This record gives sequence, structure tokens and C-alpha cells, in this order.
Amino acid sequence: MKKPVPPRDRLIAALDVPTLGDAERIVDRLGDSVSFYKIGYQLALEHGLPLASALIAAGKRVFLDLKLHDIGNTVARGVESAARLGVTFLTVHGYPQTMRAAVEARGSALKILAVTVLTSYNDADLAEAGYGVGVAQLAADRATRAKDIGVDGLVCSPEEAASLRAIVGQDLILVTPGIRPAGAARGDQKRIATPAAAIAAGADFLVVGRPIVEASDPRAAAAAIIDEIAAAAAKT
Ligand code: C5P
Repeated sequence: MKKPVPPRDRLIAALDVPTLGDAERIVDRLGDSVSFYKIGYQLALEHGLPLASALIAAGKRVFLDLKLHDIGNTVARGVESAARLGVTFLTVHGYPQTMRAAVEARGSALKILAVTVLTSYNDADLAEAGYGVGVAQLAADRATRAKDIGVDGLVCSPEEAASLRAIVGQDLILVTPGIRPAGAARGDQKRIATPAAAIAAGADFLVVGRPIVEASDPRAAAAAIIDEIAAAAAKT
């Protein structure tokens, strides 16, 4: 069984900003209100990896969202580098070879999260890409395979969380983006849930980008989300 995680540590703020300076300013403004950050391609390719090291040295945790997918040997070497960097979570696509290579190379502290099916894909997109199954079936199959292979967790939309939880049980970590506090702008997210609804659906960690980084007071925005996580967690 997983250990209970304090509400503050269940919020992952996505540093989806164009420059290192922007990211550093947000981290400064958030101060001790946020303990976990997500760095994706945009920032990683703008000198974001030294920021990952600096955050880790300052006691924060980092989710490196690079969604790796390549031949097994290349995935394994990339996973080893991420493990040396000291990040907590790293994403890979949910293909069996990729997941196996990542799990074998991850060492003891790094946790591998698999993306089952990208949330921008619908059944027609999968057909166009040459798949003979729809999103629901492919996501369920990949979740089952991820569990068998020993992947640590899955990234999923809040609305998939309850059905994936039923497939993978309690041991896998479920991380959900697409979170919008009541009243926040949806942006381009189509399938959204409030922090409370995502926790109730079984999410362990919530990834929140724009509702925090674009808020006039990011610290207050993060604090309100953490309060909502705490209230919802108390009911589960
Ligand atoms: O700004 P927002 O809260 O929508 O940001 C959500 C973050 O989660 C972004 O970094 C986005 O890339 C990521 N993400 C997502 N949907 C997925 C997987 C990742 O929105 N299915």
C-alpha cells in the first residue's frame, strides 16, 4: 500500500513558461506553498534542467515530463540520466518495450509514469494512426500492461481515474492534469475536473499549470487548491 501523502505534496505546479527567468520568478513567488514542480519540453529545452537540479537541491521534488519513446536501449540511457538528475517522476509513452526498458533502468528512487493514450486523441485519431481499437480499450489494455511490467504510475485525465483505479488497484500512482478550480478558465482543456473531484476519483497527484502560473496571486491560487485537496482527501 502507498503511504498517505500530505495535501501540499499532492499538488504539482506545471512550469509551462517560455523562459528560465519566468520559471524562477514563479518559483520565488510560490515559495514554500508548493513542493513539487513539473518541467516539460518547453522549459527543459530553455535551460530548464539546471533549474530542476536547483529545485531538488532546495528540497523540492521534480516531475520531468518528457514522454520518452524510442528503442529500448535509448530509453534506458535517458532514464538513467533522469535518475542521476534526481527527479522524482519521469513520463514515458505506454508502449511495452518502452515501459520495460524504463522500469529496468530506473534505479530505486525514480518513479516511471506511463501515458496510456494522449488525451488529445479520440477514436478517429487512433484509426488514422493505424490502430484497430478505440481510446477506452487501448487505455485499459495499456494500463493493465503497465501494471504487469511494474511501472510506478499512470498519467490520466480525471474522468479516467476511477476506471483506471479499478483496473490497476491501489498500488499504482495516478497523476491527473486537466484540473480547474471552480470558476477558472478552461483554456484548451476539454476534459476537466475540480481538484476535489479528481481526488474523489482516485487521483494521487494533481498537475496544475495555468490556474497557478497565470493567476494574479499564484501563491493564493496554490493555497486554495491545496485546501481543496485536503478537504476532499479527508472524505476518501
Ligand atoms: O495549464 P494546465 O493546467 O492545463 O496544464 C496542464 C499540464 O499538464 C500541461 O503541462 C500539460 O502539458 C500537461 N498534460 C495535460 N494533459 C495530458 C498530459 C499532460 O494537460 N493528458
